[in-house]
Amino acid sequence: MSARRLRQDVDHATSVLLLIAVVAACVTGFIAHVWDLNAFTWHTWSGYAMAAFAVAHVALNFDRLVTYWRFRARQGVRGLQARLRDAPDGAVPAPVPRSRAPSATGGRPAAPGGRRRPGSVTRRVMLTSAATTAGALGGWAVARRIGIENDPVGNDAGMVYHRLSRPGVADAVDAVVTWGRRPAPPKEYPGAPVLDLPAVGGGAAPDGRLLSAVLERRSVRDYSDRPLTLDELSHVLFMTAGSRRQGGRAFPSSGALYPIEVYAVVNAVDGLERGLYHYDPARNALRVLRQADLRDRIADHGLGQSFLADAGVVLCLTVIPERMRFRYRHRSYRYGLLEAGHLGQNTYLAATSMGLGACAVGAFFDDALNDMLGVDGRHEAAVYLLAVGAVAP
Ligand SMILES: Cc1cc2nc3c(=O)[nH]c(=O)nc-3n(C[C@H](O)[C@H](O)[C@H](O)COP(=O)(O)O)c2cc1C
Repeated sequence: MSARRLRQDVDHATSVLLLIAVVAACVTGFIAHVWDLNAFTWHTWSGYAMAAFAVAHVALNFDRLVTYWRFRARQGVRGLQARLRDAPDGAVPAPVPRSRAPSATGGRPAAPGGRRRPGSVTRRVMLTSAATTAGALGGWAVARRIGIENDPVGNDAGMVYHRLSRPGVADAVDAVVTWGRRPAPPKEYPGAPVLDLPAVGGGAAPDGRLLSAVLERRSVRDYSDRPLTLDELSHVLFMTAGSRRQGGRAFPSSGALYPIEVYAVVNAVDGLERGLYHYDPARNALRVLRQADLRDRIADHGLGQSFLADAGVVLCLTVIPERMRFRYRHRSYRYGLLEAGHLGQNTYLAATSMGLGACAVGAFFDDALNDMLGVDGRHEAAVYLLAVGAVAP
């Protein structure tokens, strides 16, 4: 087969593949749009294939393109000259393109015998390769920079927000300084009639224990040296996140999908080695992940809030948005945060009802904490800390 015929075959095959890739990109794009898919791999690859075949197509037909547009330009100029001379169009001799068939050398002088010199690289090949490489590297760098990679997490609005809201050192300073004026107090309707409600704790709540917990609940940051007992830890964990025999758990979950995981950094609990544990709600059990003194690390990761090292235990809540994404898509992360809040209030009330103290912590260095927990911060990420301990006298 002659080189020219081979080139024509490749050219035709490229055109057909380009058309197929265009159709695939359109169809997969339509599916991704209608089904609101976060990232649809087939669409991504169709797009890449389309771009690659388009570049190949232009490269293979470069001579023809250049020759044709030169010819059209010359024709236009001559037509204009003819009109200026007020001569009929037909009087202008028809221009002849320099070469209708592309030369095998891409328009450059051929080697003796009309063949391209073996091993020679044309300027066009170099330009095309450089542009393709630069485009691929640029796209890869941008995707890495903004964290959009080829998995569903990349485009999840919640996780993009999550990444953007990670505190750096400057934000840690921000957190202890107050900027601007405090916003207005809760809303009031001065002109509207007021209906006073019955006193709380009456017939509606004869037991009153939950009411006491609500009345006494506060954020406790001063802890005594007394370690927690295993009973206390078990009770706090169950009340925070336990699974009930009759089904369901101690907190509500959108779609009963339960995206929150609970880890316990044990600083001082009787009968337990210091270290990192994972809570298994179904068995109300702990699994040992690491036995080590993590007091300094948890305080450092919590923006230096030293009471995290003094608490008997620090519960670390993480969210796994993928558990909800198939149903709630971009609302998943929002629901995850709301759910973490439910667990947090459970912890507060359980601790208070047992005479213990608790404090929620939302300020922490995400990457460092995730690293300590052994989660990647993308598919599973820390969202909330809950310190629990015996209250200092
Ligand atoms: C989402 C959230 C994040 C919090 N983060 C911190 C924190 O990083 N450090 C801290 O000392 N307290 C933190 N707190 C506790 C609040 O400061 C506390 O609830 C508030 O001052 C009201 O006090 P009280 O809980 O005693 O009623 C947080 C509370 C919430 C709800």
